[in-house]
Amino acid sequence: IYRAQSPAALPTFLLIGPSGAGKTAFLTLTECNTPANTHTSTAPLAIDALLPDAHPPSSASFRSAGDPAYERARRFLLLDTPGHGKLRRLALAQLTSAANIRAIIFVVDASSVADEAGLNDAADYLHDVLLSLQKRYTGAKTSKGPKEIPVLVAANKLDVFTALPPHVVKVSLERAITDVRKSRAKGLKDSGAALGGTDDGLDDERECLGEGGEGPFEFRQMEEVGTTVDVQGGNVLGGDGSDVDKWWAWIAEQL
Ligand code: GTP
Ligand code: MG
Repeated sequence: IYRAQSPAALPTFLLIGPSGAGKTAFLTLTECNTPANTHTSTAPLAIDALLPDAHPPSSASFRSAGDPAYERARRFLLLDTPGHGKLRRLALAQLTSAANIRAIIFVVDASSVADEAGLNDAADYLHDVLLSLQKRYTGAKTSKGPKEIPVLVAANKLDVFTALPPHVVKVSLERAITDVRKSRAKGLKDSGAALGGTDDGLDDERECLGEGGEGPFEFRQMEEVGTTVDVQGGNVLGGDGSDVDKWWAWIAEQL
């Protein structure tokens, strides 16, 4: 049996981020139009998703609903990953192994980044995601597929009263990533010294996020390696229902 287009050929949006951020909740909302109860994920999960009517995909915005080209352009694959610290390697591996990654949605709980521990955990993970993208871009000679991959930082749970507004989530993450970058650079230097102090052959391992790793890190620096980073707020759940329109609008722009 042949399908017009196999799921593997659909553009993939990778959901990644700390545990409890709301990735699976967003997946179920996209799939069923209503968020279902979720529990901690232990394995990646992909669904064949359809952009809601209110958000025409940018590549077919001049077409109307029902037009086959429009209907095709609305389809995408949403790939959920587990956020638990011990499973992050798996999730990061999807970045290089999953076919056809169009974009990345880094979901973060906007209230958990209000405290230092939550912020550092999220920044640590986001740093690694961005560094993978940078390496993918700089080593693009051999890899296939699009090398420019945009990132949406989805600041979730804005319904929670302790949630930080999206622009504060943005600057907090940038500040915390600056610290992660500093401590990683120091760690690499120390391990380099332990290995005898030569730089030879370690360049790849030593790659530092952003422009030479000096000064404060800003998401804007990622544009040099083909990645734009947007921060948009929303809530998958909440007393007044869910509001993830900004995320869908962002997805529509990438389709
Ligand atoms: P892992 O699978 O462990 O990586 O976590 P996850 O990112 O998939 O989190 P999940 O979607 O399971 O959501 C975690 C908890 O947060 C669940 O109890 C959700 O009901 C809750 N939650 C998700 N989104 C929102 C939101 O917008 N507002 C509120 N108040 N709670 C939310
Ligand atoms: Mg989950």
